[in-house]
Amino acid sequence: MTQVRSEANAAPTLVLVSGNGSNLQAIIDACATGGPLAGHAKVIRVISNRKNAFALERATKAGIDTSVITLKGYKLKHFDDVQRAREEFDADLASLILQSQPKLVVCAGWMHILSAAALEPLAAAGVGIINLHPALPGQFDGARAIERAYEAFQSGKIVSTGIMVHWVTLKVDRGDPLITYPITMYKSDSIEDLETRIHAEEHKAIVEGVKLALDKI
Ligand code: GRF
Repeated sequence: MTQVRSEANAAPTLVLVSGNGSNLQAIIDACATGGPLAGHAKVIRVISNRKNAFALERATKAGIDTSVITLKGYKLKHFDDVQRAREEFDADLASLILQSQPKLVVCAGWMHILSAAALEPLAAAGVGIINLHPALPGQFDGARAIERAYEAFQSGKIVSTGIMVHWVTLKVDRGDPLITYPITMYKSDSIEDLETRIHAEEHKAIVEGVKLALDKI
């Protein structure tokens, strides 16, 4: 018998974004009636750390509440202490997240490394947090992962790459993976070809990752 999950069972999910938001869109679409996340997840808020992120427009179009919190003001306030600025930003971000009472936080193209000031309050509240990263576990941690994988392939250092969705911990891109997808690379690939192939797979992986994470929480 197929079990139909009702909207009321959908776990409140908050998405952190910084840019285009194509992965946010994949989640929004998957939460719609008939989608793979329908009855599992409901996006209740989108938070961006960049005020011009196109992801905010996507959220608004889908009727989802948005917030913007940028590091800039914190850096101006603590211009002589970047670490303090980041910690204060992270603590305020955690408060903002917790106000919405999510069950899961998804970093989908979120370009800011979260410190203990953000992660500890979430853990204390029992809120899970996952991240999408365009590389396999232990390979190309941090920024520019696709470009670095492309360069490594072109110079014969790797034969293929991949993507993952993983739990967020203090070790950047090193939390336990929930799911990994292999990505084939071809010598004829331009960087744009590789990016396009990776993004298409990311849109599936993030949806599967949300579902797996919610099953585990
Ligand atoms: C994705 O490639 C993600 O893996 C990386 O940033 C990109 C975000 O894309 N961290 P989008 O904003 O979801 O379109």
